[in-house]
Amino acid sequence: MSGFHVVKFKQIDSTNNYLKNSYKLLDNFTFVTADYQTNGKGRNDRVWSSNEGENLMFSFLIKDQDLLKKFHALSIISAVEVAKLLEEYQFTGVSIKWPNDVLINEKKVCGILLEGQILEYVVVGIGLNVNQKVFPDGLRRPATSLSLEANKDFNIDEIEQKLFSNIVRDLSNLDEEQYLEYFRNHNYLLNKRVKVMVNDEPFIGEVLGIDANYFLQIKTSDMLLHIDSGEIEIL
Ligand code: BTN
Repeated sequence: MSGFHVVKFKQIDSTNNYLKNSYKLLDNFTFVTADYQTNGKGRNDRVWSSNEGENLMFSFLIKDQDLLKKFHALSIISAVEVAKLLEEYQFTGVSIKWPNDVLINEKKVCGILLEGQILEYVVVGIGLNVNQKVFPDGLRRPATSLSLEANKDFNIDEIEQKLFSNIVRDLSNLDEEQYLEYFRNHNYLLNKRVKVMVNDEPFIGEVLGIDANYFLQIKTSDMLLHIDSGEIEIL
């Protein structure tokens, strides 16, 4: 298995920002963790807030050229890695809301934010709610944590070690078919009626699945859409 480095911070603005600012000096598979982020970032310019020391927050850097060509795959692959680990911990009701929210019993337990520059680098940022028990009101979708779902606390360092080594092992020897199959078996949106915006135009349809390029397939009344990114609203 390829090696990897881990840089740990007690507090930082955002582990994604750290890697984006320093990627030139750092190796492929550099992992950065923080107990607390002062400017945690979510998708679509949202804030990712997380209580200090209660959750796993990290980012890892990809510079390997073969992996960089698979930007869309990396988003799904990262979610599948988290979901598979949760099943290793015997969680049931694990699903993935395309492209990369991981849910337990339909509540969000993990969010993932990919940033980077095409064919130069990708930063994958992952926030997994582990021991947090209270979440702010008014979240877009109900949140949960491992501890709320299992009624016990978890060792964050142990989860971190397992997840990092699984990610490095699997990305060093990528088997894309397995990821597609896993995703298809855990696709939260499957058969749901959804609304999606494409170039500022709303489309309503039913989710059929994901194609071999990891695009979401939505059947509207008169066409089959293949969506590569965007917000999906369940109706
Ligand atoms: C989302 O669901 O909106 C994505 C959330 C991603 C949060 C993680 S926490 C570690 C990394 N650093 C950040 O600033 N964001 C990601």
